[in-house]
Amino acid sequence: MTTAQHKIGSSFGARSTADDVLDGVDLSGKLAVVTGGYSGLGLETTRALAKAGARVVVPARRPDAAHEALAGIAGVEVDELDLGDLESMKGFAERFLAAGRRIDILINNAGIMACPETRVGPGWEAQFATNHLGHFALTNRLWPALVDGGARVVSVSSTGHHNSAIRWDDPQFERGYDKWEAYGQAKTANILFAVQLDALGRDLGVRAFALHPGGILTPLQRHLTTEEMVGYGWIDADGNPLNPSFKTPEQGAATQVWAATSAQLDGMGGLYCEDCEIAEPSPEGVREGVRDYAIDPAQAARLWTLSAELTGVDAFAPAR
Ligand SMILES: NC(=O)c1ccc[n+]([C@@H]2O[C@H](COP(=O)([O-])OP(=O)(O)OC[C@H]3O[C@@H](n4cnc5c(N)ncnc54)[C@H](OP(=O)(O)O)[C@@H]3O)[C@@H](O)[C@H]2O)c1
Repeated sequence: MTTAQHKIGSSFGARSTADDVLDGVDLSGKLAVVTGGYSGLGLETTRALAKAGARVVVPARRPDAAHEALAGIAGVEVDELDLGDLESMKGFAERFLAAGRRIDILINNAGIMACPETRVGPGWEAQFATNHLGHFALTNRLWPALVDGGARVVSVSSTGHHNSAIRWDDPQFERGYDKWEAYGQAKTANILFAVQLDALGRDLGVRAFALHPGGILTPLQRHLTTEEMVGYGWIDADGNPLNPSFKTPEQGAATQVWAATSAQLDGMGGLYCEDCEIAEPSPEGVREGVRDYAIDPAQAARLWTLSAELTGVDAFAPAR
């Protein structure tokens, strides 16, 4: 950790929207990349950044769906990217870098949650692979466009990180798959990634943050049954939201937009945020704030090494 994980007196909060955060902020001339920027929180993030003047590139697993969702929003481009496919990541990064473009904001937002056991690539557990390894490889591939330019890299994690630390003895769930534990591990990985990227990148002009956006009903819940969501107290049997703490997508996008742009965070990094504020360390047994294991620098470095070994990509590897 390069900065204390404590509140800084943000002027925004749980009910702030992405537009509130960007009120009066001019992002003209800035380039943002938002993975999954055509659904749920990503769509709202793209819309708000573009409205503030940024050019937004949306790498999409389903480009047709992305074009449809983003129709009418000026300043947005769609390209193709599947976070579960290392070749797809390489292709996207090569196209991007070949155009000589620079990135001011990279929001690693795309994700899947609580899917049935699924294997991608060389047999990787799909949530760890999509939510973490894909973004790890993408960010490292895009490093030449990030370095030395004051860029911020934002990892959209979750309070779901409370479900699991990194399972060092079995990160791919070769034993005993549990969909919530797997989501938890992947979301812990998102935070550890921000911690290590910030440690590696801060002297090279790149800062990194992670965050929990809040609870928001979006297509993310596609793998859950209505019965499950009723059981969690999220919705009634007709699908109406029940949980008063749920945010709208506009509110849900606010913390990632705040982490990506707030002047209050200048000079900081390696931090986990929630409700447009730096989160406090979580007291034992309390499901808010950030768990120690998710911001532990030693585990962050260890995860980086593991991820580089698995993906074969590491922008910081010594040249041979
Ligand atoms: N909603 C919540 O309550 C909540 C709470 C905590 C954290 N989060 C986090 O917030 C982020 C955004 O979630 P959301 O609620 O906006 O979900 P969403 O509406 O389902 O959006 C997720 C996006 O990720 C994309 N994606 C999934 N797999 C991909 C892959 N292999 N390659 C490329 N893109 C892929 C999806 O593309 P397709 O549509 O083509 O599949 C979609 O655009 C996630 O990281 C999630 O874990 C959400």
